[in-house]
Amino acid sequence: MKRRPLIAANWKMNPPPAGFDASDSPFLPRSNVDISVFPSFLDLKHCIDAGIETGAQFGRPEPTGAFTGDISMAMAAKLGCTYVLCGHSDRRQFHHETNEEIAQQFVAAIDSNLIPIFCFGETEAEHDAGSTSAVLKRQLKPIITFLTSGFQLPASSFLLAYEPVWAISRGDPNKPAATPKDAQDMHALIRSLLPKDRQATTRILYGGSMKGSNAHELLSQPDIDGGLVGGASLKPDDFRKIVEEAEKWKVKSGK
Ligand code: PGA
Repeated sequence: MKRRPLIAANWKMNPPPAGFDASDSPFLPRSNVDISVFPSFLDLKHCIDAGIETGAQFGRPEPTGAFTGDISMAMAAKLGCTYVLCGHSDRRQFHHETNEEIAQQFVAAIDSNLIPIFCFGETEAEHDAGSTSAVLKRQLKPIITFLTSGFQLPASSFLLAYEPVWAISRGDPNKPAATPKDAQDMHALIRSLLPKDRQATTRILYGGSMKGSNAHELLSQPDIDGGLVGGASLKPDDFRKIVEEAEKWKVKSGK
């Protein structure tokens, strides 16, 4: 089963980088690789109008309601978003989103015809305590429960993003990513936790200090199907290198 790579640009609460809407923008769709951009809500429409495939950084499960400051999955879908992030570690940390709430977002996204990207990963303390696999299993559990509930879902209707919190750059361009071997080991573990009929088809992205200089090593790992890129996605030239690596990798691996 072929898994098409996805390189996702998470701009977080930053303005779009210069040239993002130019005709040679690295954020535009490509034939061999899926590219998507997660801008601030204020910039979504501009990106969509520029022909960029987009996702929302967050969406509430309720379609409408008295939730000041939020938008719903349904609204993001209506605007023209393709994807939505569910459970990014920034949201888990700063908005105290629980795993159960994130699972509700995941289901609501699918109901709204969005493709959820379920983000999860261990913190530095959990990593240092040697509890990474237990944490990943716990975080993934509500999603596995949903996937085994008998609901019929096409293969490409969701993605996972493994993002070890300790590797996320938070604006530090020198932060080391997970080593390709460690990232591959975790991706293989995550894949093995999925229901059998989902293992070959589910795309699992890696996130955490991916950049042009390490994209080749990370993306050439057999279980890494793309990247969720923060800091480097604000530098179009660096982002372009990642996209080009994903294109080469696809040709090389024949995936
Ligand atoms: P980073 O961010 O690439 O800057 O580490 C990734 C993310 O937070 O999604």
